[in-house]
Amino acid sequence: MLVLGIETSCDETSAAVISNGNKILSNVISSQISTHQPYGGVVPEIASRKHLENIIPVISEAMDQADISFKELDAIAVTYGPGLAGALLVGVSAAKALAYSLGKPLIGVNHLDGHIYASFLEHTIQMPLVCLVVSGGHTSLVYMEDHDHRILLGATRDDAAGEVFDKIARKMNLGYPGGPIVEKMALEGQETIDFPRAWLEPNSFDFSFSGLKTSVINYLHKKEQIGEEINVPDIAASFQKAIFEVLITKTIRAAEAKNVKIIVLAGGVAANTYFKNLMTQEAGKKGIKVYYPSPVLCTDNAAMIACAGYYNLLRGKTANLDLNAVPNLQMELEM
Ligand code: KG4
Ligand code: ZN
Repeated sequence: MLVLGIETSCDETSAAVISNGNKILSNVISSQISTHQPYGGVVPEIASRKHLENIIPVISEAMDQADISFKELDAIAVTYGPGLAGALLVGVSAAKALAYSLGKPLIGVNHLDGHIYASFLEHTIQMPLVCLVVSGGHTSLVYMEDHDHRILLGATRDDAAGEVFDKIARKMNLGYPGGPIVEKMALEGQETIDFPRAWLEPNSFDFSFSGLKTSVINYLHKKEQIGEEINVPDIAASFQKAIFEVLITKTIRAAEAKNVKIIVLAGGVAANTYFKNLMTQEAGKKGIKVYYPSPVLCTDNAAMIACAGYYNLLRGKTANLDLNAVPNLQMELEM
């Protein structure tokens, strides 16, 4: 079964062909990072325009690399939300045009589902499991009993984890996106500053990172006011310790509460080596196995969308040609 995946929800134009749900025949990713870098973040209008320029060449390249013809495809899967409206529309329109002209099924994929399924491309994973989706737009803990049944255990009440990496990096003039550079800086630093951890109510699986973000920003302002030099590596290391301590503790607690022995990490922040190693180590102490995708499949890519689309197709979940972009699409939860 051959599925073409298309992803344009934020600042990556991507198209991929996967075979039988896990063999990646191609995964072409055209990143707009350098275009948005001067602005310190993604500019939605520019993102849409770039997607429009890139979508056809990226799809053509994905088909060429997979070495198959459009006629051989079994379905077209596309991210229809959540994300930037104009950006999503480019992918959705392209997918609809292809599905209509080829007479193939169209599959609408929730971007978060895509992140969750990224690990299924590389590993055979048993369910039930607990998945932590940590990206620039989301921080959600999901319990998956099987492909059809899942519950949202908790989510961030304010900033997403990746967003905080981006914001504090911007404040320290480290560039965009902040995650990879903060991780690199932290390698040289010591965890000397005690930034706050928001645990919220006992037993809550929600997160809150705005207090941590403000605390880092206040720390930077204070140092600036008294004319003291900041130690960027120490700030990076201390910040990472604070944010990952909360993410790891709550994820393991969720796995224990649901009595599952498998944790899956997903989203751009799951590319962080310090995080993956610490999570694996801490979960291992409780007999819990941790899976995560390779870095290129952690950040936005169409292979994960094609994979989630494949599982939708198996369950007969296809979309009509009136599929629209849904910028604030919620995760479909069934139990
Ligand atoms: O999943 P993704 O590509 O896009 C969204 O769906 O949001 O995630 C991008 C986010 C950015 O906030 C970026 O700073 C963060 O993931 N990120 C990282 C790392 N690599 C990317 N955060 C921490 N450590 C990293 N190595
Ligand atoms: Zn994403």
